[in-house]
Parts: sequence; structure tokens; C-alpha cells
Amino acid sequence: MSAAASIIHQFGHPGEVVELFEQPIPEPGAGEVVVQMQRSVINPSDLITISGAYRSRIALPFQPGYEGTGVVVACGDGVTYPAVGTQVLPIGLPGSWSTYKLTPAQWCIPVSEGLSLEQAATLYVNPATAWLMLHDRARVQPGMRVVISAGASEIGRMLIRLLNQVGIEPVVTVRRRSSLPRLQGLALETVLFTEAPDFDHALQPGSVDLLLDAVGGEVGMALARCLKPGGHLIHYGLLSGQPLAADLPLQLSGVTFELFVLRHWIHQAEKSSIHALFRTLESLMLAGTVSSNIDSVFQLADIHKAFKRIDDPDRDGKVLLDLM
Ligand SMILES: NC(=O)c1ccc[n+]([C@@H]2O[C@H](COP(=O)([O-])OP(=O)(O)OC[C@H]3O[C@@H](n4cnc5c(N)ncnc54)[C@H](OP(=O)(O)O)[C@@H]3O)[C@@H](O)[C@H]2O)c1
Repeated sequence: MSAAASIIHQFGHPGEVVELFEQPIPEPGAGEVVVQMQRSVINPSDLITISGAYRSRIALPFQPGYEGTGVVVACGDGVTYPAVGTQVLPIGLPGSWSTYKLTPAQWCIPVSEGLSLEQAATLYVNPATAWLMLHDRARVQPGMRVVISAGASEIGRMLIRLLNQVGIEPVVTVRRRSSLPRLQGLALETVLFTEAPDFDHALQPGSVDLLLDAVGGEVGMALARCLKPGGHLIHYGLLSGQPLAADLPLQLSGVTFELFVLRHWIHQAEKSSIHALFRTLESLMLAGTVSSNIDSVFQLADIHKAFKRIDDPDRDGKVLLDLM
């Protein structure tokens, strides 16, 4: 028996290098399970990996897809949990854009029945990153002045809702006026337009406690210069494609400079901490605090249409794959 899976043999634009092929349904070895995937997410981190940005640590051929949910259909020797039939998030390894994913049982996070497939599929990458940056790294407190770049992104809106929960109304940046409807209903100090001529001077230097930057380049640098001595910069994305200046930590003396990579946290954390994090995220998902807008869902056979939708400027939310 075989089933469809995705793979790349070279790095490049996903529309050009991602191929579908039929692979035998995997057999689990000791300590492994096979997960029949149901919904998987196409995230910026997948596209960046496929582009070759991490080619030094990604071996080819490579089966992409870091986030998704499915049901355990087979357990190898020694696996007592999760049992066959358990809805899980198989995290920690790629291969989620495939009908079946072979994965270590210890990397399967069980999912409560109360979550829809779309909620379960999007419970990991952005919610975990948003929660950990605010509560594990920055330890946000009421009264802090916080700035979020790319505030209308899916993770940007999660960060805003989490901050609103502790009484903080952040400053956010967007590129375009057309992004404003996505910020409706969120409590904000102000919205700054990064394309505006006065953007560089919109915030007073020394007025910001915490900057969460996913843009990098000139935008990230301009915002970083507004941090207070004793302030905190968490850099977690490169949407502009441009890095922050390598000597930025020297330019910003007295500021804590931190690069946040979810993969690093996940692979260093105790399994009990990871499970506790997911129980917190499930509650926040059910309350809508870390939910994602779902733009569209494509069959795996239509994955190239999904990539086109990712690049569509009218896209509003996550693009998912239906593997069922
Ligand atoms: N480090 C980690 O572990 C980690 C984990 C999760 C996410 N991330 C990062 O977080 C970022 C957002 O992820 P997401 O899933 O929320 O993505 P998303 O919803 O697809 O992001 C769309 C947003 O990105 C903004 N954007 C796109 N290109 C841009 C550019 N060139 N300059 C400035 N803004 C741009 C758009 O802003 P406008 O509305 O202004 O057009 C739009 O709001 C990504 O860089 C991702 O890699 C990192």
C-alpha cells in the first residue's frame, strides 16, 4: 500500500521544487508511531527551509511540513502512549505535508476533542512562539510599552491578544492601510505605517521596554533604536529578507538582544514542560486568544495552488492542506 507525500530534491521556490510522489505506508519501528495526517499548515518557516536558507543543516531529499495534526494508526514495539486512535500533533520533525508521518511516539502531543481540525493543526508554531516570547522570555508585566512589527500577521495578532490579557496595548507596525481591518477589535496604543515618510521618527528614542520584531532590516533597526536602556529586543522573523545589523547589540548598549527560534526551545525543553505548554495553549485556543484565521484549505494534490495562494496579496490567514 502506498500514499501521497511531498518531497524536495533541490532548494528553491516551493512552486518549482516541491514534488508529490507515492511512498509505501511506513511501518513503525521500536518507539515510533505512524500518524495519518488530516490537516497541515504551510508556514513561513517551511517556505524559508525549502528556499535553502538553512541548507547547512537540511539534508536532501527533504520531506517538508513542520506543523499539522492527525490520528495515530500504528504503534511500534514499546509504545504504550499515544494509543492507536489518538488525535495528536506530531511535532519536532518535518514530514507533515504527507498522508502518513512516521515519528517518535515521544514527539506526539495529544489533542483535546474540543478543538476543530483547523484549530488543532495551528496549535503549535505561532501560538507556542507567541506565548513563550511573552511569558518565558520577556516576562511581560502591566505598564510595559511594547512594540510589535508586522502586527497584522497571524502571530502578530496572537501577541496583541496575549498582551491585551495583561492590560498592555502595544504599538504595532504594518506596511499597508489594507491591513488595518485585520487589527479591528484589538486594543492598541497606535498603528505605525512602515512606508510613511516620517516612520523613522514616529517613536521617541528611549521610550520602549520590549520590541518583538519579525521584519528585520531598516524597519527592525528603526524600532530597535527606540528601546530604553534596560529594554529587550526579541528578533524572531525576517519578513523583509534583510537581517538586522550584526553590530546592533553594540549600538544598543544596555539592551538585551535575543534571537528566538521555537525549534531551539522545543529541543532543549523537558517533555513535561512541552506538555504543560500545550495544555496552556489549548485553553488559549478555545478562548480564541491564539486562534488563526484560516484563509483556505487545499487538497495535497493541489499543493501548487496552495503556494500560489500564499503569495496572493489578498490572502487573509493561514493556508492549510487537507490530507484526508
Ligand atoms: N522564530 C520562530 O520560531 C518563529 C515562529 C513562528 C513565526 N515566526 C515568524 O513570524 C513571522 C510571521 O509569521 P506568520 O505565520 O504570522 O505569517 P503571516 O501571517 O503569513 O504573515 C503575513 C504578514 O507578514 C507581513 N509581511 C509580509 N512580507 C513583509 C515584508 N517584506 N515586510 C514587512 N512585513 C511583511 C504582512 O504585513 P502587512 O500586513 O503589513 O502587509 C502580513 O501581515 C514570519 O517571519 C515567521 O517566520 C518565527
